[in-house]
Amino acid sequence: MPIKNRFAELLPEITAWRRELHENPELSYAEHKTAAFVADKLRSFGCDEVTEGVGGTGVVGIIRGKANASGRAVALRADMDALPIHEITGLDYASKTPGVMHACGHDGHTAMLLGAAQYMAETRNFDGTVVLIFQPAEEGGAGAKAMIDDGLLDRWKIDEFYGIHNAPGIPAGDFATCAGPLQASSDEFEIIVTGKGGHAAEPHNAVDTVLVASQIVVSLHSIVSRNIDALKRVVLTVATFKTDSNASNIIPETARMEGTVRCLDPDMRLFAEERVRRVAEDTASAFGAKAEVIWMPGYPVTVNDASAVASAAEAARALGVKVDDTAKPIMPSEDFSYFLEERPGAYVFLGNGDSAMCHHPKYNFNDEAIPFGCSFFAEIAERRMPAA
Ligand code: NI
Repeated sequence: MPIKNRFAELLPEITAWRRELHENPELSYAEHKTAAFVADKLRSFGCDEVTEGVGGTGVVGIIRGKANASGRAVALRADMDALPIHEITGLDYASKTPGVMHACGHDGHTAMLLGAAQYMAETRNFDGTVVLIFQPAEEGGAGAKAMIDDGLLDRWKIDEFYGIHNAPGIPAGDFATCAGPLQASSDEFEIIVTGKGGHAAEPHNAVDTVLVASQIVVSLHSIVSRNIDALKRVVLTVATFKTDSNASNIIPETARMEGTVRCLDPDMRLFAEERVRRVAEDTASAFGAKAEVIWMPGYPVTVNDASAVASAAEAARALGVKVDDTAKPIMPSEDFSYFLEERPGAYVFLGNGDSAMCHHPKYNFNDEAIPFGCSFFAEIAERRMPAA
């Protein structure tokens, strides 16, 4: 069976929504117009309930099926926020807000879930309830967690979660996912090294903060290669390095660095934190300096449920497209992980064709993917809650 015919009919309209969202991007937790647009559309489709302001600017829509003998509820999620990037695509529907852009395709995700909502509100061809989740602040603001903290799972019964992210480099309309870890966790750290400032010509009267901090950078890179099982997948990057010296003849008093640790094995997160603290503090101490480590836990590992992935792959294959359900995981992180910590479910990548990469100022969501994303959302709901 190919894509659902209704989406071929709705395509011009859904594409117009996508482009309207693209033209009017809003940053994390500021998705006020976007949320109002979404809520308005959901009401116009005849959704049974539309609730705004969940976890900030999140919107929840409810569509009850023809029957509810199963008592089951499947949640479908789209993220709504844009990025602080200045768009240079030159599109006639390019961002009207300088410095803000839908560079991750969340305009496409939102439009596809709206399209699926319209179809499901018309057909209601399932036994149970569909919970539509339009979340704020995926780009670093943990909007998924904000919705959970605002009682998402107490206020609405949800048994499973499904979500889509577009994927440049995969042919438009094809799908890729895998069981188990799909995207890495993302924890950040800051290290403040304090030595003893002084004259660059008399280092023996100082404690050279630059040397100590450099030693810490080198030693931190031994954690992944020397302390972590080669079969575990961890990345550590020190991304910034700044001192308070602004002249070549001054040994600075302090140096600051920031970095990130990405893990595909959840049990490596605490271990990595302990090692970063120990290596930084003890290396500094060996040189007579001090290191303060500030650890900022971020998004968890996105762990797909194996049986949910099997269902998702079946639903995608039913659309007549290529589906890779043993795709390689990736190291960027995703806050859909918070939903998957609470309930089983699956996150899937939908091909965006040969486009610029996400977070690039020339990126654009590929509208050819829309019917496949819409069909997938509807198909997975209908398959997980089959109508009698
Ligand atoms: Ni994204």
